[in-house]
Amino acid sequence: MDFDLVIRDGNVVTATEEVFCDIGIKRGRIAAIGDKLPKGEREIDADGNYVFPGGIDSHTHIEQLSSSGIMCADDFYTGTVSAAHGGTTTVISFAAQHKGDSLPKVLTDYHSLAKEKAVIDYSFHLIISDPTEAVLKDELPELIRNGYTSFKVYMTYDALRLDDYQMLDVFSVARREGALTMVHAENHDLIRWLTDRLLEHGATKPKFHAVSHPRLAESEATSRAISLAEFLDAPCLIVHVSAEEGMEAIQRAQRRGLKVYAETCPQYLFLTAEDLDQEDMAGAMCCCSPPPRDKAAQEAMWRGLADGTFQVFSSDHAPYRFDESGKLAQGEDTPFNKIANGVPGLEVRMPLLFSEGVLKDRIDLHRFVELTSTRAAKLYGMFPRKGSISIGADADLVIWDANKEVTIAWENLHDNVGYTPYEGKKIRGWPLQVFSRGRLVVDNGELQVEKGSGEFIPREKPSSAEPLGRTSPEAELIRRSGFDDLW
Ligand code: URP
Ligand code: ZN
Ligand code: ZN
Repeated sequence: MDFDLVIRDGNVVTATEEVFCDIGIKRGRIAAIGDKLPKGEREIDADGNYVFPGGIDSHTHIEQLSSSGIMCADDFYTGTVSAAHGGTTTVISFAAQHKGDSLPKVLTDYHSLAKEKAVIDYSFHLIISDPTEAVLKDELPELIRNGYTSFKVYMTYDALRLDDYQMLDVFSVARREGALTMVHAENHDLIRWLTDRLLEHGATKPKFHAVSHPRLAESEATSRAISLAEFLDAPCLIVHVSAEEGMEAIQRAQRRGLKVYAETCPQYLFLTAEDLDQEDMAGAMCCCSPPPRDKAAQEAMWRGLADGTFQVFSSDHAPYRFDESGKLAQGEDTPFNKIANGVPGLEVRMPLLFSEGVLKDRIDLHRFVELTSTRAAKLYGMFPRKGSISIGADADLVIWDANKEVTIAWENLHDNVGYTPYEGKKIRGWPLQVFSRGRLVVDNGELQVEKGSGEFIPREKPSSAEPLGRTSPEAELIRRSGFDDLW
């Protein structure tokens, strides 16, 4: 037999093409694409359905201890099982450094968790919260060289945030070593100051989380991060953009030709601040940072997805249960600033974007594929192995039924969170079959693979992270004075 598997008669859609054809798979890779391919050992009929590259969710928090010591609800089993049911075949999750941690040890720990449990492929972005001399000089450069070619930094959260000096330190390592820096951009002191005023006045309910993280906090920090990155000629990616103000700062930079990339997430398309204002503490389920805004902000995010401001659409799956182990550390009395931040979403990420984006003509099919898979593979150094349907690529594929009507209900999802912020939402389109390296992972809603069968994917240095070669006038003067190795 020429092929281990042939997926026949699918409407095969990539970021640039749509072709009615067969896909032949051998030893986990795509071996042929064409018409009337010879018979495979296994045959799957995709007639009447789309075939997309498997989704890549490049922003997930799985089995991660938060900076305030709260454990995510999903481990690498439930997290990846849930991802696979929604059409995602690769997750890039965070390996979080807490103060005092050595980075190699952090990664060893995350590897041992994921290896035992993941059912789809995975990679890690680092979170750098303690950029000591050892981290900057030795650990980070070595890890970048070993395939951890992106990391996230925070401008807010007491235990995670870097000040501008530290941001410059990490940007300069990223630039020199060829890594992409992801930035959580919010002005820490504005949030802290507002939070103190609200609490002084007894305003503790979840709804006050939204007002304590104003859009200006996001746009100011976004502009500042971009300025620091620009000074050092270091590309950066602004994660989880929530509103037009932040998006405009990104667009200004992009218009000037800077390598500034951006991501938005389902919560900024489908939730608003009003979802934080519910009976009892239910609004806590929708507390994330930056917070959901309003309908106008949602429309702005849709525009940014359509016009290319955003390159990736990730879930920022940050799963916390609605109890004292997660969202409500202090029970019903938990003030908004102590509610664990984050919402679940990795299983519904692709179905939501397909239904509300493609079927409502906000984006076309190619943009859908680009946003949910291809561009993440490129930005984070996995292309063309991941994110493409091409000869030699991993056979990570989703057969997608565009007509299936689904009412989102947590009891039908596969995460361990206990709720979904999208409960009751009616959508159309859901994966029928999901393949990872040619293995049928999910067949009509049934998991087909063993715990631990996912593989770690080391990543290349992406071209997205290559400096532009543009220096600021001051940096140029410094260079001309003979100080070439100042940073
Ligand atoms: O609220 C959020 N987004 N929580 C997850 C952590 C992060 O900042 O991405
Ligand atoms: Zn963040
Ligand atoms: Zn996140």
